[in-house]
Amino acid sequence: MRLTGTGHASMRIDTPAGSILCDPWVNPAYFASWFPFPDNSQLDWETLGDVDYLYVSHLHRDHFDAAHLKRFVTKKATVLLPEYPTSQLEDELRDLGFTSFIKTKSNEVHALDGGLNIMIQALISPTDGPIGDSSLWVEYDGVRVLNQNDARPTDLSIFAELGHVHAHLLQFSGAIWYPMVYELPESAKRAFGKQKRDRQFDRTIRYIDDLKASWVFPIAGPPCFLDDELWQFNDIFGDEGNIFPDQQWFADHYRELGRDNEVILLPGTVAELTADDCKVTHPVPDVREFFADKKPYLEQMRERKRPIIEAEKATWRHPEIDVLAELKRRIEPLLEESIYMAKGVGGPVRFDLVGYDGESVESIVVDFPGKEVRPYADEKVRYRFRTQRELIEHLIYIDEGDWVNSLFLSCRFSAARIGQYNEFIYAFFKCLTEERLQYAEGWYDEHERTTDAEDITLGDWVVQRRCPHLKADLTRFGMVDDGVLTCQLHGWKFDLASGKCLTSVGHKVRARKAGEPAESAS
Ligand code: FES
Repeated sequence: MRLTGTGHASMRIDTPAGSILCDPWVNPAYFASWFPFPDNSQLDWETLGDVDYLYVSHLHRDHFDAAHLKRFVTKKATVLLPEYPTSQLEDELRDLGFTSFIKTKSNEVHALDGGLNIMIQALISPTDGPIGDSSLWVEYDGVRVLNQNDARPTDLSIFAELGHVHAHLLQFSGAIWYPMVYELPESAKRAFGKQKRDRQFDRTIRYIDDLKASWVFPIAGPPCFLDDELWQFNDIFGDEGNIFPDQQWFADHYRELGRDNEVILLPGTVAELTADDCKVTHPVPDVREFFADKKPYLEQMRERKRPIIEAEKATWRHPEIDVLAELKRRIEPLLEESIYMAKGVGGPVRFDLVGYDGESVESIVVDFPGKEVRPYADEKVRYRFRTQRELIEHLIYIDEGDWVNSLFLSCRFSAARIGQYNEFIYAFFKCLTEERLQYAEGWYDEHERTTDAEDITLGDWVVQRRCPHLKADLTRFGMVDDGVLTCQLHGWKFDLASGKCLTSVGHKVRARKAGEPAESAS
């Protein structure tokens, strides 16, 4: 089996029974904020796109690049489709001209022609990607690959049970706007960023230890930021609070743990994989040197890509749009239908829209309890976002149904909040269509009513086995320190004495001191 790196989370898998192109991404994503690093635009995409199968793990724009798929991937390819609750991924691929689909069943092995076996695990909670993220397992002639991508399954046992995995490809770097966009003192931001960076690394190691594959490929990031406004997000300033470490950083830290089975997959790297070996050829003479020269490399890339960024920026302004009226028209019916998410947000959320002159500000409130969108009325708000008015105009213009997959991942905003992180705000703003909203509300309804009766003992405490966030098994992911439970899957913390979640609103945990009767649990 041959794995060819094609940049970021993308790769081509070749076997004698057929080839699979995964997540090809070349054009900038999220308001021209993210670019693939290293640059993969010079690869021979005509040849790479001539494949038997296409796998798009999910709809995030650094995995689903519509323009690239349209131009470079043969429409004869059969799409390996994850089993998602909404049809959006399939619909968008059909719009691009793909007609052949294998609709997989989550966690079921599918035998394709010629002895090629695949399995796709679909994760479907409102917080998984843009309502859906997935991993692809591939087997040919006894060689197995898990492309975990940036998915966060609660555990990997379902893949491990299918036999020893030879190559495990997974995310290790950041892919979020936290904490950089928060209006916090630099020192606090750095401390939160460092925590986040450490947590990303710990989570990756946990997954690696779970699967025990022969070879580990750190993929799916980091992106690079080439617009001058976002340049500071690149990890080239020696800032330990930067959440976008690169593959070489991972490899070095991985080696410090005494491991040596990592393979860096640059665009153009080829890994020939057998059951006992992995022969790697890189497109550069010295990988370490390549990463050591990252700053000048990015500076040159910035110059090359500047015209692309400028051209995108020129499309954002739509002065004819009445933003308040349009947001009212689109969001109020959804607020009316939202029960769980509106209750979860629990207060007004303010958007400060900075005008074209860079000074004037229009403040609009999405009032979740009041179920209306209206001008800001000098009240206390739970969250405040500040962004350019033209970005919101553009979202309205393109009828964007997922602001996480556009505005928030662009990092082109700043944010302030009172109190804890609130996942319901972001869940709501990725559900700005009827279909998505109904799905997410239904999911929360079911989740809320599913009680998880089993308890486990962690240190001096008896706690519910499943994490109140996304049901990770706390026998594997739970750590108790000084009365605080940390679930390592996403790093959420819970005060065990009160049961209160310290990371987000709601999500109480059931816990009691070992030896105390169950009735006293709160
Ligand atoms: S499942 Fe997300 S923190 Fe536990």
